[in-house]
Amino acid sequence: MKILITGGAGFIGSHVVRLFVKKYPDYQIYNLDALTYAGNLENLKDIEKEPNYAFIKVDITDEHAISELFKTYKFDNVIHLAAESHVDRSITDPLSFVKTNVIGTLNLLNAFKELWKGDFEGKRFYHISTDEVYGTLGETGLFTETTSYDPNSPYSASKASSDHFVRAYGETYGLPFVISNCSNNYGQNQFPEKLIPLFINNIINKTPLPVYGDGNYTRDWLYVVDHAIAIDLVFHKGKNAETYNIGGFNEWKNIDLVKELCKQMDAKLGNPEGTSEQLITFVKDRPGHDLRYAIDASKINKELGWSPSVTFQEGLKITIDWYLSNANWLKSVTSGAYQNYYEKQYS
Ligand code: NAD
Ligand code: TYD
Repeated sequence: MKILITGGAGFIGSHVVRLFVKKYPDYQIYNLDALTYAGNLENLKDIEKEPNYAFIKVDITDEHAISELFKTYKFDNVIHLAAESHVDRSITDPLSFVKTNVIGTLNLLNAFKELWKGDFEGKRFYHISTDEVYGTLGETGLFTETTSYDPNSPYSASKASSDHFVRAYGETYGLPFVISNCSNNYGQNQFPEKLIPLFINNIINKTPLPVYGDGNYTRDWLYVVDHAIAIDLVFHKGKNAETYNIGGFNEWKNIDLVKELCKQMDAKLGNPEGTSEQLITFVKDRPGHDLRYAIDASKINKELGWSPSVTFQEGLKITIDWYLSNANWLKSVTSGAYQNYYEKQYS
């Protein structure tokens, strides 16, 4: 089986590639990635020489290159993760999100459709999406697979649009697809623009921790390896044309999460208790900031037997330990362009 995994040099994609390469030696895994600021082949150093792994540097917005690639390699299956993924960047540059997340997804769908021309036996297009397409919850309730789409940020609008196109290709052309919508991930190799790695990096460097608004926003956090395990299950056992919600059953208000992170970091760094909390700085809120995300993951739990394998305390500990022992990784991704981004975003 030839599987194309897009965005495999990024955060979640690298964990998915590793899992598939190691667990399925009989599958040929092709990792396609444009290596944007968020893509890093260092994330896959440990498996890059495996005989069932190959890397292809291509941009999914390049229609011709994508079409040629499908003709050459004849991928049986696609697991599509490549995306522009950060909400703050989508607020300053929405068009690049449309290009990659919408047009890029369409290029992949078209190439897949043209390659197999209706003979889809044993083929599947698996689209990885986010719970942010559902918009925001109030203080109560959970997102289910039937919650209406109501995206509020350019990022979530672009992901919602790509989800709709995938479903439309299923209805219109009979393309076999499955979609999963996951809550906020955390773990090793996450680019330090997202809350947890950004704050770990700032605590290490003793720089302010910029909490948006009053910090009373809620997210449902899932350890990235548990997301990769869920993706493996959905890919192999999920039903065509279905959506599966994936979440951590693990809601935290940002401010409580940041305080917990400060506590654990102080303990690791040998700081007196309360040291890192002093870095918390309330800053201007993100425009269109969704109040609360929380996933009802009972469908994937009941139908595919999935549930998170680690607790949040365990996952956070693994994550902190990884960042502390991978100072070079952190340094290399925060040099150069990162400095400009940080200044623009937080000045
Ligand atoms: P990421 O930003 O860490 O990685 C994205 C990867 O895609 C990078 O390797 C980048 O180089 C690549 N890429 C970007 N544009 C590309 C292009 N035009 N052509 C080819 N490759 C390109 O993202 P992530 O956090 O790993 O998210 C992966 C997927 O999971 C995304 O589709 C995202 O919407 C979804 N998702 C993320 C989360 C989360 O919490 N991070 C939660 C739910 C769903
Ligand atoms: P983020 O990691 O960007 O994920 P998402 O916006 O996709 O949920 O942000 C998680 C939460 O943390 C969100 O409510 C915004 C907040 N946040 C801050 O308060 N400060 C920051 O510097 C960042 C990046 C996020």
